[in-house]
Amino acid sequence: MHTLHFFKQLVTNADSIGAVAPSSSVLARAMVEHARVREAKFVLEFGPGTGAFTGKIIEALPEDSGFFAMEVNSKFVDIVRNRYPSTNIVHDSATEASRYLQAQGRKSCDSIVSGLPFAAFNDELQDAILDEVGRILEPGGIFVTFTYIQAPLTKRGRNIRRKLFERFSSVTTSPIIWRNFPPAFLYCAQM
Ligand SMILES: C[S@@+](CC[C@H](N)C(=O)[O-])C[C@H]1O[C@@H](n2cnc3c(N)ncnc32)[C@H](O)[C@@H]1O
Repeated sequence: MHTLHFFKQLVTNADSIGAVAPSSSVLARAMVEHARVREAKFVLEFGPGTGAFTGKIIEALPEDSGFFAMEVNSKFVDIVRNRYPSTNIVHDSATEASRYLQAQGRKSCDSIVSGLPFAAFNDELQDAILDEVGRILEPGGIFVTFTYIQAPLTKRGRNIRRKLFERFSSVTTSPIIWRNFPPAFLYCAQM
């Protein structure tokens, strides 16, 4: 059912969705593990879509930790709010994250799980989101984003890779996760 909703939104919002299907549970588990959600004090999720990562984040989140997700697509916001009614799903762009953190009395977070399709974004949007991440991620905090294996063959895919290496103190890549369609790997970037 979630795949059907995802596909319907893809038809009209291909540029902002940048994927043909929701991520697999194998990819979701890898995101949560690399983003160190189990030890985090405050986690943000960017681009939850139909919630492929959201449930795994909630399961792993320590009891006294904070969390909210930011999603631009109103249909996806409704779906994730229905699936996880006690979770705060903000209907706004990841470029506005600091404003919503401040509304919760916080300036920073220590873990960001990004489902954003950076390799589909133009330079301006890539920069605006990475600028915002730079403003809100604590020193030592971790930003994890996934990309499909073919993305580094494209100009935008190479741009986001270069920007991550320029902006973060360390960047590692995960092994390829074959049990996802398309296969993907993670960039794990530490502030
Ligand atoms: C590739 S889909 C990933 C969905 C889900 N995380 C998954 O892995 O199945 C990208 C998601 O990012 C959302 N998105 C795109 N631009 C965004 C932005 N600037 N801020 C927040 N969400 C955004 C899209 O609407 C879509 O839900």
